[in-house]
Amino acid sequence: MAAVTALPVSLSARFKGSFAYFTVKDRLPQILTKAIDTLHRHKNEFFEEHGEKGVEAEKRAISFLSKLRNELQTDKPVTPLEDELPDAALWNQYLDYQRNLLNGNGEPSWFQSPWLFVECYMYRRIHAALAQNPPIGSFDVFKEGKAQNFFESQEAIIALCTYFQELLKNIKDLDEKQLQGELFKLLQVSLWGNKCDLSFSAGEKSSQKSSPLQCLEDMVPYIIVNDMEKLWSLLINAKKRNTDKCTVRVDVILDNAGFELVSDLVLTDFLLSSKLADEVHFHGKSIPWYVSDTTKNDFNWTIKQLQSANHMWMSRCGINWEGNLKKGVWVYQDHMFWTLPHIYSSMAEVAPDLYADLQKSNLLLFKGDLNYRKLTGDRKWEYTVPFHQALNKFHPAPLCSLRTLKSDTQVGLKPGQGEQIQASEPEWMISGKYGIVQFDATP
Ligand code: F6P
Ligand code: MG
Repeated sequence: MAAVTALPVSLSARFKGSFAYFTVKDRLPQILTKAIDTLHRHKNEFFEEHGEKGVEAEKRAISFLSKLRNELQTDKPVTPLEDELPDAALWNQYLDYQRNLLNGNGEPSWFQSPWLFVECYMYRRIHAALAQNPPIGSFDVFKEGKAQNFFESQEAIIALCTYFQELLKNIKDLDEKQLQGELFKLLQVSLWGNKCDLSFSAGEKSSQKSSPLQCLEDMVPYIIVNDMEKLWSLLINAKKRNTDKCTVRVDVILDNAGFELVSDLVLTDFLLSSKLADEVHFHGKSIPWYVSDTTKNDFNWTIKQLQSANHMWMSRCGINWEGNLKKGVWVYQDHMFWTLPHIYSSMAEVAPDLYADLQKSNLLLFKGDLNYRKLTGDRKWEYTVPFHQALNKFHPAPLCSLRTLKSDTQVGLKPGQGEQIQASEPEWMISGKYGIVQFDATP
């Protein structure tokens, strides 16, 4: 019989001094405070739009969020959801599961439970604070920050769109080597685009200021797992095999709106324009999530902004992308699974429809830190554990994570590699300075 190896423990705020501890103690309350401030600042707007009812709803939402902040800061048990939103039952089942793990030794609380669970739970409660309070139910407390990130990254977006539109002019004449070079560049822009997230900076500004293409060479040493060659092989082989006109489908499990989203859209436009792919499916969040994650509104808003921009190449990108959506070669989807607390090894069981859909893809690109945590289970893995092992049977299709390190979990390193970086840079796992392009093709 094959030996069953126990999984390492989950990251949790119960480990004092860990990044999870500081996040639950400081960063999450800061995010809640900002959300409360945002609602305060929009009071007049709610009044103008909905009269007294709008102001009453705002007050109720604020008191719900203040209560939530208090529960968190005083390490209260995580309470079942009381709303009737479509995912409430799944959440409460998950809470029962966490409770059962304690074997009667108390209730799951904010500082004692797995970090991933309580952090996701906070965003779900923020959503409930609004959703339960019509007429302001669809107000996104994070929208302003996401828009600000987009506007502050304007220069970088212009540089990227201009580079890309120039590239398109002669993309048909590129030989394989050149095509590979361009793919690697745009993969790296998309990878480093992941530095710009607002949950990491507790909602403070985090935009792309400089040209995203200029310093790529200098940043190569910071890609500590670099499987770009493997990605290239997969894509070019699929293209060569594709003489029988089967569709090559790539799925992008999106992360942050703002500059990162634009970098993802450029990358996927390149895949279509170079005929490395025929169809791209984007997976966004169905509710506001981790401050800067992309919702359907953010996705459409971004394309509209580009379209109407006062810059020729920016607007050309926007117009082309709107066209891709109309033609159906780009598809935006969201599924509630992406905003549940479950790790991806549970997807086949919890969301079999989504798993079956992903199985139709030739390649899944998972953007960002949170996706990596959910791929690998958010555990204290040894650095050298193979990525495939940490995925724990999650394998709908070949997949690749593009992530800058912003939480202290990492697998698939060479022996001694993690320790060596640690010796000179103790913050290497949480600074966003290092990145990975980590691929797994094995079923
Ligand atoms: O709260 C921390 C965190 O989950 C980190 O893991 C990460 O820094 C951030 O939020 C989300 O990062 P990303 O947008 O890359 O998923
Ligand atoms: Mg994010």
